[in-house]
Amino acid sequence: MEKQVILNIEHLKKGYDGLEVLEDVSLQVKKGEVVVILGPSGCGKSTFLRCLNGLEPIQQGSIAIEGIPVEYGNKNLSKIREKIGMVFQSYELFNHLSILKNIELAPIKVQHRNPDEVRKEALELLKRVGLEEKADSFPRQLSGGQKQRVAIVRALIMHPEILLFDEVTAALDPEMVREVLDVILELAKQGQTMIIVTHEMAFAKAVADRVIFMDEGHIVEEGTPEEFFNHPKTERARKFLHMFTFDSIKKKDSQSS
Ligand SMILES: Nc1ncnc2c1ncn2[C@@H]1O[C@H](COP(=O)(O)OP(=O)(O)O)[C@@H](O)[C@H]1O
Ligand SMILES: [Mg+2]
Repeated sequence: MEKQVILNIEHLKKGYDGLEVLEDVSLQVKKGEVVVILGPSGCGKSTFLRCLNGLEPIQQGSIAIEGIPVEYGNKNLSKIREKIGMVFQSYELFNHLSILKNIELAPIKVQHRNPDEVRKEALELLKRVGLEEKADSFPRQLSGGQKQRVAIVRALIMHPEILLFDEVTAALDPEMVREVLDVILELAKQGQTMIIVTHEMAFAKAVADRVIFMDEGHIVEEGTPEEFFNHPKTERARKFLHMFTFDSIKKKDSQSS
């Protein structure tokens, strides 16, 4: 059975006074699909994700989640944000609230769900990411990797249709990257629809159903991880991938010896 498109972006155009950032970006994401967005710094990846979540006004084009338009400033935006969860590089936890309270806040205050059920689910989710004993701790008592796993739980408890990840391991020490990526890999296995911006190439290869390569506000390439990593079609993609390999260094060594 052909899977249903849940996120539909058509001819999106977005800039910041005078600066054109996204130009004519179109993308369809199907239920259960994991799309990884790669591209050089400054090419518009974060701007793109923020537009999808209604955090930015757009100049042209349209974004719709399950047929409902995402519009900056629209009064239905909080409903839409329940469908589109986002995890940021900087965790965005409330430092004065316990981990449990951080997680429970939105489902109780925004979704008006039953507090007992919310607590039960929060504890289950914390257990799933290996943090059940941190429920009563405060963010300052957690490592970066632990805080990021809490941020993922906080997004998950809203039962989003789609989750957006913006370089969520970029600020972490190397030994904490894996524990966060493992959580995301697990979500992929369970069929969570996700759009992931990352610079972790091995992870991108492992988690993606589809890779999107962006440069200067355009989608330049799109394909399976196998296609993109092993047979990039454009010079720009080859150059980008080259930054993540050490082949050139090896070559220089062998030339000089
Ligand atoms: N709030 C903003 N105001 C003005 N310019 C911005 C803003 N946010 C991003 N930009 C600019 O938009 C371009 C794309 O940025 P961004 O989306 O953060 O790229 P990426 O996430 O791919 O590194 C950059 O030139 C950046 O300087
Ligand atoms: Mg960014």
